Amino acid sequence: MLDSIKQVLEDAKNRQVENSKDLEDFRLKFLSKKGVINELFEDFKKVSREQKREFGQELNNLKGVVEARFKELQDNVSEVRTEDAVPDLFLPTGSGTLGALHPLSLVKRRITEIFERMGFSSEDGPEIETDRYNFTALNFPENHPAREMQDTFFVSKGEEQSQDVLLRTHTSNVQVRLMENSKPPIRSIMIGRVYRNEAISARAHCQFHQAEGLYVDKNVSFRDLKDTLLHFAKEMFGKDTKIRLRPSYFPFTEPSAEIDISCFICNGDGCNICKKTGWVEIGGSGMVDPNVLESAGIDPEEYTGLAFGMGIERIAMLKYDINDIRLFFDNDVRFLNQFTGA
Ligand code: DAH
Repeated sequence: MLDSIKQVLEDAKNRQVENSKDLEDFRLKFLSKKGVINELFEDFKKVSREQKREFGQELNNLKGVVEARFKELQDNVSEVRTEDAVPDLFLPTGSGTLGALHPLSLVKRRITEIFERMGFSSEDGPEIETDRYNFTALNFPENHPAREMQDTFFVSKGEEQSQDVLLRTHTSNVQVRLMENSKPPIRSIMIGRVYRNEAISARAHCQFHQAEGLYVDKNVSFRDLKDTLLHFAKEMFGKDTKIRLRPSYFPFTEPSAEIDISCFICNGDGCNICKKTGWVEIGGSGMVDPNVLESAGIDPEEYTGLAFGMGIERIAMLKYDINDIRLFFDNDVRFLNQFTGA
């Protein structure tokens, strides 16, 4: 029996413990109810009376030494408690890096938010469109120079190039679809990507985004158009912003106007952004032409409508002082990271 005690003592001393699992193995092997030390105590009951004294002392000594060793190992192992095996879900996370929203997404979200508060719903439409929705139903006469103004990408069908299927040149196509499919009152904004066959430069790109607005109801007036655009400009660019509507021409509106906002960089004093004029253009607008209402199945005698369209890149460039439109499509993280938390 003395040999067994010695053996166990050696074993316990040499045993290496690295983690809480090793530690538990140690406890199970030596100190648990079914451990070797308890087994020795069982054997001890059977030893002769004369040997009891000597063996008893050795056995108690063994137990003391192994318990002390266990305590020592327990202190050394950092993950000593068994609950450490379960991750602590309440610990703060490491300093992981959060991505940023793309500046165009930031502007799109803000526009949606502003118009939603004015009761506008958000609608969507196709980027691959037919001539009817992009032009004809919007009152672009056949062979009218206005079609040429928007350098169109036509979609080829096999070998043939169709003049009927195209990439939409503006978001105004959704207006017509919306009026065909719903009854007034209609109050919606339509945000999406548009395409034009333009040479790519710092100022122009062959793809960009627009936000289109449409409000059709009884008695919608030019005054509503001015109020809507002024409220939007103040919300988007600051409460001191003013708007200016300049007479213009679009086939689908009559009267039509370009929308300028007072330059929020120089407050109208004149700077490089506004080319010393104090005003910057953000889009076009007007009262929906009766022909457009009619071609979409709405009676122009009963209803009137206002509409507007704005460039998202243009607004983002003004708001964040970005001087090259190509940056939006390069996906350079050095550019994109600047919008973290914006
Ligand atoms: N579709 C025009 C463009 O791309 C912008 C526009 C002007 C939209 C006037 C409108 C509008 O809805 O009423 O240049």
